[in-house]
Amino acid sequence: MVQQKKWWKESVVYQIYPRSFYDSNGDGIGDLNGITEKLDYLNALGIDVIWLSPVYDSPNDDNGYDIRDYQAIMTEFGTMSDWERLVEEIHKREMKLMMDLVVNHSSDEHHWFMEARKSKDNPYRDYYIWRPGKADGTEPNNWESAFSGSAWEYDEVTDEYYLHLFSKKQPDLNWENPQLRHDIYSMMKWWLDKGVDGFRMDVINFISKVPELPDGANPKGKKYVSGGEYYMYGPRIHEFLREMNQKALKGYDVMTVGEMPGVTPEQAVKYTKEDREEVNMVFQFEHVDLDSGPEGKWDLRPLPLRDFKNNLTKWQKALDREGWNSLYLNNHDQPRMVSRFGNDKEYRVESAKMLATLLHMMKGTPYIYQGEEIGMTNVQFDSIKDYKDIETINMYEEKLQEGIVHEELMKRIYVKGRDNARTPVQWDNTRHGGFTTGDPWISVNPNYDEINVEKALEDKNSIFYYYQQLINLRKTHPIIVYGSYDLILDDHESIFAYKRMLGDESLFVYCNFSQEEFQVDMPSDTVQAKKDILISNYPTNKIEGDYVLLKPYEAKVIHCREKV
Ligand code: NOJ
Repeated sequence: MVQQKKWWKESVVYQIYPRSFYDSNGDGIGDLNGITEKLDYLNALGIDVIWLSPVYDSPNDDNGYDIRDYQAIMTEFGTMSDWERLVEEIHKREMKLMMDLVVNHSSDEHHWFMEARKSKDNPYRDYYIWRPGKADGTEPNNWESAFSGSAWEYDEVTDEYYLHLFSKKQPDLNWENPQLRHDIYSMMKWWLDKGVDGFRMDVINFISKVPELPDGANPKGKKYVSGGEYYMYGPRIHEFLREMNQKALKGYDVMTVGEMPGVTPEQAVKYTKEDREEVNMVFQFEHVDLDSGPEGKWDLRPLPLRDFKNNLTKWQKALDREGWNSLYLNNHDQPRMVSRFGNDKEYRVESAKMLATLLHMMKGTPYIYQGEEIGMTNVQFDSIKDYKDIETINMYEEKLQEGIVHEELMKRIYVKGRDNARTPVQWDNTRHGGFTTGDPWISVNPNYDEINVEKALEDKNSIFYYYQQLINLRKTHPIIVYGSYDLILDDHESIFAYKRMLGDESLFVYCNFSQEEFQVDMPSDTVQAKKDILISNYPTNKIEGDYVLLKPYEAKVIHCREKV
């Protein structure tokens, strides 16, 4: 069954983390004018939509994911007129702009919270989630903040605790309150009227909490536990998303993607089925959790390729007929994909292209994270002082207290820390990779001499031009957007291969995740077909026959048409 055509299904999205993108004024911090300067570069890549991580006024406890004023621009990033010029220039180039919508929580410096904490009868009190302590004065429940420690902060003024699933400077908003919801919808409409083309919704599946806020299951008797079972798929989540659609989004031709930690494929179908009018697609996390152990993301595990194949296949199949997938291996919260799933040493270029092929030939909307298109890698700073991410710093301090040694903690940070993705984009081989003429807010990855945009643009075999080709193929081959998906070579330990089909066409995508060479047979029903190679990350121009040879980290896409 071919799904309904939509522009956001045919688009490729590029994510900008503005702090680290490009600094136009030498203060060491990326900014809006810096993005405007680089729009021709993005246009040359061929992307359709820019997702801009938060640029709103913020005290930056969590780099803008703690918003102080939803309708103002962060001074470090520029002014509202800079933003207006940016959106105009984006539209001039026929690209679109998707803004980040962070409404599970605000900053504790938002005027709603400043009011709310004044007294129990303040009109804004109920915009947040307040509870008295337990009889012994301890926190109202055992939930843990995503950034370590309790999810509750005691506030002396009114002798109550407020809930913060992230840092204590990110109090959770109370979506049970209709006035709060109304204010959020009007804020969204205000941005839509200013010309935004969509929203990426931060942890949007957390907005409905079970109102009793019960203790989370705690079989191991820990001090704090996630408690996610009481807020990751809360009782009113579908109702709130539909209401948001009716009251804010309806009438605008926009795209929406809900970031949803813990979402299952069955839930994702409900969120994204078109006639339910909730969101267009979700960011799921299962495939990026496979290299974590039972203790969570810092509990390092090797990635089992079989699980990775089965997991992505499960998502492809679940959303094949209804709903829609988003496709990503990278973002500002995840380590760099080439270091994580590929080989960032001798096969950096090959494996970055191979991973891109795997993702861009799948069904769904692909997301590219800044620097991915030049194969940027993870970073290893010597000192914890060089790290800026609140999650990393809090984890380090907490675990050090628990007795885990510095070397072990750094090892974990090198593999999983969010700052891996947040070092500045490497534009050229001048000081600080050409990101800034000042002192960057976070150090540039020292490999900028080797890996940078200028170099990529000069080399016709670069990762950049390979992405350009992949994006172009999606625009010229409807099978990539709308074709069905099936895993092939299911049991192969090193090759991730799948088949796409539409009408009398099929695509066979082969990705070698290892340094070994392999020869695999093509399915017998393709023997008679007319075959050609759509794209490969090695210089190849011939089809071997009814088998495929794969060199280290090789990706090969074979296009078949029934012979006429
Ligand atoms: C998810 C965002 O992607 C992440 O960067 C942020 O820290 C949390 N949500 C809290 O807003």
